[in-house]
Amino acid sequence: MRRSLISWSIFLVQLMMLLPGLTIASLESKRSQTYIIHMDHSQKPDHFSNHESWHQHTVKSLSSACPEDKETFLYSYTHVMHGFSAKLTSCQLMELEKSPAHLSTYKESFGKMFTTHTPRFLGLNRGSGIWPTASYGKDVIIGVFDTGIWPESESFNDNGMSNVPSRWKGKCENGTAFSPSLCNNKLIGARSFSKGLQAAGLNISTEFDFDSARDFEGHGTHTSSTAAGNYVYGASHFGYAKGVAKGIAPRAHLAMYKVLWTSDTFASASTDILAGMDQAISDGVDIMSLSIGLEHTPLFEDVIAIASLSAIEKGIIVVCAAGNEGPSSSTIYNGAPWIMTVAAGTMDRSYIATLELGNGMAFEGTSYFPTSVSITNRPLYYGSNDTKTAGCSFLNRDEVKGKVVLCDDSNLDLNGQMNVVASAGAYGAIFLTESLFLDPEDYSIPGVLLHTRYAKAIKEYATTGNNTIVKSMRFVLTKTGTGPAPQVAYFSSRGPDPINPSVLKPDILAPGVDVLAAVRPDVPFMEAGKYDLVTDYALYSGTSMATPHIAGVAALVKAVHRNWSPAAIRSAMMTTSTNADNAYGTIRDQWNGLTATPLEFGAGHVDPNLAMDPGLVYDMGPQDYIDFLCGLGYTAKQMSAVLRTSKWSCENRTDINYPSFIAYFANQTTSWSEKHFTRTVTNVGDHASTYQAALKVPDGMIVKVEPNIMRFTNKYEEQKFVLSIQVDKDSPKVSYGYLEWIDEHNHVVSSPIVVIRD
Ligand SMILES: *[C@@H]1O[C@H](CO)[C@@H](O)[C@H](O)[C@H]1NC(C)=O
Ligand SMILES: *[C@@H]1O[C@H](CO)[C@@H](O)[C@H](O)[C@H]1NC(C)=O
Ligand SMILES: *[C@@H]1O[C@H](CO)[C@@H](O)[C@H](O)[C@H]1NC(C)=O
Ligand SMILES: *[C@@H]1O[C@H](CO)[C@@H](O)[C@H](O)[C@H]1NC(C)=O
Ligand SMILES: *[C@@H]1O[C@H](CO)[C@@H](O)[C@H](O)[C@H]1NC(C)=O
Ligand SMILES: *[C@@H]1O[C@H](CO)[C@@H](O)[C@H](O)[C@H]1NC(C)=O
Repeated sequence: MRRSLISWSIFLVQLMMLLPGLTIASLESKRSQTYIIHMDHSQKPDHFSNHESWHQHTVKSLSSACPEDKETFLYSYTHVMHGFSAKLTSCQLMELEKSPAHLSTYKESFGKMFTTHTPRFLGLNRGSGIWPTASYGKDVIIGVFDTGIWPESESFNDNGMSNVPSRWKGKCENGTAFSPSLCNNKLIGARSFSKGLQAAGLNISTEFDFDSARDFEGHGTHTSSTAAGNYVYGASHFGYAKGVAKGIAPRAHLAMYKVLWTSDTFASASTDILAGMDQAISDGVDIMSLSIGLEHTPLFEDVIAIASLSAIEKGIIVVCAAGNEGPSSSTIYNGAPWIMTVAAGTMDRSYIATLELGNGMAFEGTSYFPTSVSITNRPLYYGSNDTKTAGCSFLNRDEVKGKVVLCDDSNLDLNGQMNVVASAGAYGAIFLTESLFLDPEDYSIPGVLLHTRYAKAIKEYATTGNNTIVKSMRFVLTKTGTGPAPQVAYFSSRGPDPINPSVLKPDILAPGVDVLAAVRPDVPFMEAGKYDLVTDYALYSGTSMATPHIAGVAALVKAVHRNWSPAAIRSAMMTTSTNADNAYGTIRDQWNGLTATPLEFGAGHVDPNLAMDPGLVYDMGPQDYIDFLCGLGYTAKQMSAVLRTSKWSCENRTDINYPSFIAYFANQTTSWSEKHFTRTVTNVGDHASTYQAALKVPDGMIVKVEPNIMRFTNKYEEQKFVLSIQVDKDSPKVSYGYLEWIDEHNHVVSSPIVVIRD
């Protein structure tokens, strides 16, 4: 099925969720399995010249204890952890675990993928603000971990790019359909990692992938061009969203680390992800962008979290997708407190189709069908007497062939209805629906979504006789400035973080619905009956798409503030983000239209221009994360797994200096309970300033800040404050507020507060 292979957005992510055991089961039937082995590098005997030779020797030597067994060495890791991955039998593993140098073992696991106008929606413009100040991200290097890249795409031309930074140690690897000469001053690195995939028996199919950094699916091309694509004039998705396509940081350099493969299914092995991140650290990326998540595990078993902490210690910013498992709560991925966790929102752009019926009535609906197609004077079919045919869960080929079918909202979802209508041979379709969600690639025949408020009028006409017609159906308009926008995308994963609920996640919201960016240009984007649809630029949705927006903004902030830590850059982006939409209300939830909360949008929607000058930052360094881990009550072994060392000290501080607050009150017996949060802020403004606390306090509780005025005279001066929250036993179960520090230079440093009682 070509169509399912090339439509890798939310739908496919959900499909994979239904089949999590698939790849795992095929692993367990083998005698040997792939493991990541974490070693204590202080135990390396001196006669080994480097870690890799020690690691390889360690694996080879297992054959003395298990002579029957053949071992396969995969990767040696030096930056993300000291250790290696190998395919081992249980005998070999037991032998290895006896070694005093062995620290921990992780079983191979498989990740899932979170599948022109955006820069302007984010307030980026050439005249002023962060774009000119940051020189559009000049000299910053963004490493993208994805399905590869289509290097010939116009988005990766290097017109106007500066030279490759001299500190860069990466390279473009040769491979299937990928020659190193395809790289340039925009795309400066391209590597692929598949040993783990192949060790699991998942071959790289020659039919569905390239054994190189070349992108088969188009997803990595899309995310890369979103983060740092160069200027391309006249890009559009079949006529929609026409404009100049460009990345958020159009002058930043890109390096692709291909760790996601199209095998029997979409697959990404943790050993390969780890190898990619290890290489990216040594190559010298400034920012990592990952649209991948592993199964929920504690931090000491989460290799993305472990590798990210290692990257953060080296000053690299790690940006990850929050996942596509909304609207259920506690569905966050990548919630480690050192990662920037990104939720997806909508944009102020909608795609309009017009419909005119035989009686002259006209309607406006939503569609993504290519604008080049239109329908005139076609019979209208409505199976009014039967809920199955009216709802389009069952249709008779002979009755609907060549007609436009009207589908009344039924038990089948829109995608299912579209499949029934298309496979019955209908010419077009009208869907009456309240949920206006159908992905662009799911329009297999011309179709329009109409709100159910028009149902009565349309059905009245459709049941008047046998000669009802659709006079015209046109796919014409891209409307911008529609609202309210942004809204939290219905699929975006929501907090609290299931692993560490004491840190508020997600962190931030960015555009992730109908994002226009480059895709693989030589294969049809969708299979639409007689319409063979190929496009260079396409609309994709997912937290996968939101993540590279944040990576791009982080690149801009980094270009302005070279010496800021990853935590300071994240804080700047979070405390300046907004919780208001373009209708001046609080950001809404696309799922139910109700007001959304920090558990859905985190600190709010990113505002790149304000992020450049946040006033204050909540900074953190490696010791802050160590103290956070100390507070989790991990064993020494678990601590050393996350920290990749056996030497650390806890400084008896459990409050992490996070730019947001979440308080839990459990088993409340007294009438008032109280919680305190200690925070330290650093003045990064250029002037002396006086900050005053402004609190938006939810009903039924008392929130105080002490002190509530802070005076700073010097840049980088630090001050502490304590936020205390008191709740009554009659307070609401979940409530939300804000702490804002406001100074005389228009800085508003805003942090969300979430209070949960159970
Ligand atoms: C590059 O890779 C291709 C495909 O694997 C191979 O045919 C070619 O010989 C390689 N070239 C070099 C210089 O290694
Ligand atoms: C992968 O390739 C190997 C060797 O060509 C073959 O034995 C194995 O069956 C293949 N596995 C799958 C899942 O196709
Ligand atoms: C539908 O029902 C109406 C009245 O109940 C009837 O007149 C008409 O013939 C039915 N149509 C079909 C196609 O069964
Ligand atoms: C519609 O067609 C059906 C079956 O062909 C027929 O029985 C019915 O009388 C027609 N109704 C009208 C209003 O023409
Ligand atoms: C940690 O701090 C608390 C309160 O400040 C104190 O009671 C406790 O003894 C300290 N523990 C250690 C190990 O220093
Ligand atoms: C709250 O009470 C329940 C049942 O009484 C108990 O199982 C749970 O451990 C308590 N939680 C806390 C945080 O004290």
